[in-house]
Amino acid sequence: MTKTINWPIIKTNMSYPIEPYKVKVLNSINILNRTERIKALQKADYNLFKISSEKVTIDLLTDSGTSALSQEQWSQMMLGDESYASAKSWERLEASVKNFTGKKEIIPVHQGRAAEKIIAEILLQKNDVALSNGFFDTTRANLEHRGAICLDIPTEKILNPSQSRLFKGDINIKKLQRLISKYRKQIKFILMTLTNNTYGGQPASLKNVSLAGNIAKKNGLLFVIDACRIVENAYFIWRDEQKKRGNIKNIVRKLFSLADLAFMSTKKDGLANSGGFIATNDHALATQLRELVVLYEGFITYGGMTGREMESIARGLEEVVDLAYLNHRLGQIIYFHNELAKIGIPLINPPGGHAVYVDAAKFFPHIPKNNFPGQALVTALYQEGGIRSVEIGSLMLAGSAKNELVRLAIPRRTYVQSHLDYIVEIFKKITANKKQYKGFKIIWQASSLRHFTCKLKPL
Ligand code: F0G
Repeated sequence: MTKTINWPIIKTNMSYPIEPYKVKVLNSINILNRTERIKALQKADYNLFKISSEKVTIDLLTDSGTSALSQEQWSQMMLGDESYASAKSWERLEASVKNFTGKKEIIPVHQGRAAEKIIAEILLQKNDVALSNGFFDTTRANLEHRGAICLDIPTEKILNPSQSRLFKGDINIKKLQRLISKYRKQIKFILMTLTNNTYGGQPASLKNVSLAGNIAKKNGLLFVIDACRIVENAYFIWRDEQKKRGNIKNIVRKLFSLADLAFMSTKKDGLANSGGFIATNDHALATQLRELVVLYEGFITYGGMTGREMESIARGLEEVVDLAYLNHRLGQIIYFHNELAKIGIPLINPPGGHAVYVDAAKFFPHIPKNNFPGQALVTALYQEGGIRSVEIGSLMLAGSAKNELVRLAIPRRTYVQSHLDYIVEIFKKITANKKQYKGFKIIWQASSLRHFTCKLKPL
């Protein structure tokens, strides 16, 4: 098998990092005209989740499950063992996850939210409390579905979105201590989401994660990590520590070592199109979790995944800690962020790990919060350029929204510089005529996770 090789850091005057790969398989992109895009928007009730991907030119809806696979992943997938129980592919995945996390008990699930559902069912009862630097929407929904109360306590550093401070993904330690005293009998666990997707994809510092872990231990609480972007988080720590702490893989393992329980959607830093796992050293807890995996997901050696998928994840977890990959990945996000900043787009600073976040309330000051300025920008980007993005604000999070954001998530290893430059051009076009874009009202919504299916009407 071809090994990935760490590239030397080549100093050039380029503001864009050279791709550490070349194109081999093509996925062509359609470019519809503006009239066709307006029609598509109307047909989808202005909800971008309902637009056919064929009608999207650049898809920044998510970085989840959208990574390009390497030739090594594809070739390993051909060896997928589809046996029901104890398949070879499971053994490879289990070994890879043990190596990646340093944990002894690995439980497969078909994606992140399956882990959330199973963990919630084992750990939570009605009125229990869980605290986090930021629950992702599906995490919150799964925990609340059990009747639990989920409280986000991000660091105060996030209160000023435009200010560039490192580790804005931290948990607020003072509030954490205060809330543990307040809800002493109800609190079940502390969850760190790495990176903090709900608050700009910002990383948490090793110090903050350690501190939160110690507080959990002292108070007899479980410390849980949502690890779906843990490698990107580790890259920020590595850079901040002037690269002193050895390689990225060591930092990833250090972070996992702080958690009693971790779960990961491998659709993100697993560099795979699906899958996930739960990891712990607690055998008794693992046994309980496995019982529910059999009930909801599949046998405990595949958890809803095919052998091929397990092969691609096993390899993806090795590729993702490669420095050449990470330098490009994070370099690409920094470039995109800087180009948008140069033309005056209000952004969350500094750029996070997997996306650039636009402050839509500032971008469209004429649209009030309850008319969803974020959704107005999302639809404008599609209308003018066929770009698909996602609102993370009052539409997605309703009352718990702290900001009106639009996330431009960058799929891994998928787009190149010209795609990003094209998006910057579309932003220029929208900026030149902001007032023509109007807000929205909801005409239908589901009882939870409304943003996926709601119908909207322009004002
Ligand atoms: N946790 C975080 C922090 C996430 O970002 C996601 C998914 C999940 C859990 C759930 O994982 O999708 O495999 O069930 N985030 C995607 C996104 C959907 O677009 O940010 P999943």
